[in-house]
Amino acid sequence: MTLDDAVVARHTVKAFEPGHTLPQDKIETLLNVLQNSPSSVNSQPWHFVVAATAQGREAMAKSTTGAFVYNEPKVLNASHVIALCIRSDIDDKHLQNILAQEQKDGRFVAEGAQAGQDKSRRSYVDMHRYEQRDLPQWMEKQVYLALGGLLLGAAMLGIDATPMEGFDQRALDLSLGLREKGLTSVVLVSLGVRSDKDFNAALPKSRLPRDEIFTFI
Ligand SMILES: Cc1cc2nc3c(=O)[nH]c(=O)nc-3n(C[C@H](O)[C@H](O)[C@H](O)COP(=O)(O)O)c2cc1C
Repeated sequence: MTLDDAVVARHTVKAFEPGHTLPQDKIETLLNVLQNSPSSVNSQPWHFVVAATAQGREAMAKSTTGAFVYNEPKVLNASHVIALCIRSDIDDKHLQNILAQEQKDGRFVAEGAQAGQDKSRRSYVDMHRYEQRDLPQWMEKQVYLALGGLLLGAAMLGIDATPMEGFDQRALDLSLGLREKGLTSVVLVSLGVRSDKDFNAALPKSRLPRDEIFTFI
């Protein structure tokens, strides 16, 4: 699948065929995409909960009731459902954890590189915490980058996917025990095999024309 083919072929799947389990090697590739997703100052302010069993999907589906019930079958009938979460804070423990990982991975070659990286990262975190006061939104932006990678990656692998903001975040946080872990959910992605009822597959893509969305200077 070429990149051009993948971006046109991918669409939001509206119905999955139950009973299909995606090959584990493809899931591993998508986990690799998520793990290697870029983030501002390498802050990696995320966690990904992967439901690969009926029990896991049912736990996720506790958040697709009421106004969000239209998304329930997309959760229950998928092969895998991934909840992309942000941390409730970028605390000192997390900052030290990232720095230690960078050290372990051999990122600090030059003298003073480690201290410089730590200082720079902390200055960005402080700016978002105290001046812009948008730390959760800043973390969400990083998670949405990971979402983009995941959707494109799935398309390249020929995997059907549905991104979903249509779920009750509080219900999901409670169902998965996220808040006790210092996390909160942002967006869900179902992955699987689309069914004949996926009406979106037959519809043409609709995007604003290039002359409206690009300016070349
Ligand atoms: C962040 C995000 C959240 C979305 N939430 C839902 C959702 O809850 N349920 C749904 O059926 N589609 C959802 N969509 C799908 C969009 O409606 C869809 O991407 C858009 O209409 C473009 O169509 P396409 O993805 O088929 O190209 C979401 C898409 C994104 C990117």
